[in-house]
Amino acid sequence: MCGIVGFVGHQGDALTFLFEGLKRLEYRGYDSAGIALATNGAVALAKAQGKLAVLEPLLGTLPRGVPLGIGHTRWATHGRPTDLNAHPHTDCRGTIATVHNGIIENYQELRSELIAQGHTFVSDTDTEVIPHLLEAYGGDEDLLGAVREVERRLSGAYAFLAISAKQPDRIVAVRRSSPLIVGLGEGVNYVASDVGAFLPKTRRALVLENGDVALVTPDAVEIQTQEGALAHRAPFTVDWDIKQAERGGYAHFMLKEIMEQPDVWTDCLMGRVRGDHIEAGELGLPWSQRKNIRRIQIVAAGTAYHAGLVGKALMERLARIPVDVAVASEFRYQNPVLDPGTLVLAISQSGETADTLASVSLARQLGAPTYAVVNTVGSTLARESDYVVYTHAGPEIAVASTKAYTTQLLVLTMLALQLAAERGHARSDLVRALWSLPALGEQVLASLGKIVEMARRLATESDVFYVGRGIDYALAMEGQLKIKEIAYIHAEAYPAGELKHGTLALIEEGTPVVAIVTDRVMAEKTLSNILEVKARGAEVWAIVDAGLPQEWPVDHLIRLDLPDPLLSPALTALPLQLLAYWTAVHRGQDVDQPRNLAKSVTVE
Ligand code: G6P
Repeated sequence: MCGIVGFVGHQGDALTFLFEGLKRLEYRGYDSAGIALATNGAVALAKAQGKLAVLEPLLGTLPRGVPLGIGHTRWATHGRPTDLNAHPHTDCRGTIATVHNGIIENYQELRSELIAQGHTFVSDTDTEVIPHLLEAYGGDEDLLGAVREVERRLSGAYAFLAISAKQPDRIVAVRRSSPLIVGLGEGVNYVASDVGAFLPKTRRALVLENGDVALVTPDAVEIQTQEGALAHRAPFTVDWDIKQAERGGYAHFMLKEIMEQPDVWTDCLMGRVRGDHIEAGELGLPWSQRKNIRRIQIVAAGTAYHAGLVGKALMERLARIPVDVAVASEFRYQNPVLDPGTLVLAISQSGETADTLASVSLARQLGAPTYAVVNTVGSTLARESDYVVYTHAGPEIAVASTKAYTTQLLVLTMLALQLAAERGHARSDLVRALWSLPALGEQVLASLGKIVEMARRLATESDVFYVGRGIDYALAMEGQLKIKEIAYIHAEAYPAGELKHGTLALIEEGTPVVAIVTDRVMAEKTLSNILEVKARGAEVWAIVDAGLPQEWPVDHLIRLDLPDPLLSPALTALPLQLLAYWTAVHRGQDVDQPRNLAKSVTVE
């Protein structure tokens, strides 16, 4: 998703900060980037399609020592990723510049109006209407006043920064849905879409609320609400360790994030599991709500949706509560049947996924209580849901979600166990066993060295099936997404027992099939399905519970030491993640920033 950075100081080199800040936002996924500086009454601009390495040589054309500038990494939505469509965008005179995240929905009518007034557009973006409107509303004379006029004209969900070279002591920042955070320095202030961008400079920050317009100068931040009233947003100290956001010696963030899972599981369980009970208060959902739940509706996107599928199985089997799981982009338009007895449970790593946010907003309109399982503290979803529980996975940089996913699984497991206990189905044996997961995770990771070679074989394929039953099928869904998104191999997950109703026709000599078997009740059945595909020539990679008595006549066998199947999903996810990771590495792909994808999808 797009990233925004801004720098305004009495002195200093905005250029160096902006470029470094953009580097720290690379993980969000982008396809072009640019920087604008306010200098000598005009905006100096450098922007380019591609990664920051393409932009870097162009920065030589920009002046050094300029203390006002803005930068952007763009993930194309309106107009292809090209040099001209890259942000920042400027007005006709080249004195005003803007960077923007999100979407201006009415940009076409605004663009026609501005063209009729004589403005010249050079890009296909929705963004470019902003600097031209600012020009029309006198932004060079009064940037804040013009921004106030302009944002009344815009509809959509967005955030933007504006600067004018005629007023080189200020950035005006607007937040309408897309996040913006101000970093507070001494004689300098920073603005970014993500704290990580300014963390090496300052840990003091304040989050703009939806609707805020902020005038940011080197010494002050003046915030107005949408209605124009002055507002105070409390500064806080960011307690993220900057090292958490670095690769820690691993070749890729994704591998680092896979390997640190046992540690983050500890963080996730901490304070929430004591002996044989869950500290219900630590799950963020009060008893007054828990006792009323008749049904749960999970909404999420991507990997978080797959976590929801596991969550459904856990809550239905343990707590006997009916659970539906919906992809958020579908749910929001389905005219869903909701009532106060249905808990809408949104799962999201970023807390900024547009479809998930819209689903929660719809649920609230329909009178259902909303509860978010989120990783990013202070994210929009966390703030717009009635109740929230954090997964404590730390910053996840690789686009492919790994540690965020398994911590979602752990939170859903704790929730299921708590709801089960309150409904007379307590499983204190499982609660006690939760604390064994970090150590088991270490063991599983240590035992998976052979996956590197198993992946080398898979890397030569172009299609692969993932099969399983029950929770193993939900895990298969996540396994196939991982290999699609980072190794670019077409993959399909199938319930193992359903293969014979059509898909078996595709199995021929050498067809790769990854089979997951951790559920003891269904192991014998899944084994039969494995034999069916083997009989038709499939090459099978099987991930199985080492405690199962069966023999596994497969080509590549991974045996895991697993506890009860209801506690195993996070452990079983580890080999699936590593198989996708090493397959992508063998294929030479950009593991951390796969093509066409973004970490945080804040547009529909
Ligand atoms: C993007 C990411 C996925 C993620 C999905 C949902 O597509 O690339 O990894 O699963 O968004 O994101 P969320 O932040 O809501 O979990």
